[in-house]
Parts: sequence; C-alpha cells; structure tokens
Amino acid sequence: MAEAKHGTAPIVVEETPGKKAYCQCGLSARLPYCDGTHSRQGTGLAPVVVEVESAGKRAVCQCHRSASLPWCDGTHSRLAGC
Ligand code: FES
Repeated sequence: MAEAKHGTAPIVVEETPGKKAYCQCGLSARLPYCDGTHSRQGTGLAPVVVEVESAGKRAVCQCHRSASLPWCDGTHSRLAGC
C-alpha cells in the first residue's frame, strides 16, 4: 500500500467543461487528474469527481486539505512545511 503524496501548491489548469476526476492521492502520472493509480497502489483514497460547468482557469488543490476540494482555498499556505 502506497502513501498519499501531498503537494505544497495548487496546479493551475485551463479547464474545459465536463466531468473531471481530480487526484487525491498525489500519485497520478497525470496530475491534477486521476489516472487510477490510487486503486492500483491500494491507497484507500479516491478522486474528487466534479462536473465543471464552464471553461476557465482553475487552481486545483494539491495539499488535499482544502475545504473546497478539488479547488484550492489557500490552506496549503497555512500548513507547516509549506
Ligand atoms: S490516481 Fe490519485 S486519486 Fe486516483
């Protein structure tokens, strides 16, 4: 079983509308999107799946502590070691 890997800053993407699965284990090769690694590595975690309504720039949380997952709310800047 692999441990989750948490980042220290969001990943900013030019998002397109549609259903998206954002990685919460930090092990995906396609960050910030889930590529199924969480399951293969037995992390016990799952992606946050959302319907993106409109195109535009989004900051996707990588510390996985945001109160607004999958979006960054600035929590990473208040965490020790960040
Ligand atoms: S690969 Fe990380 S949540 Fe799916």
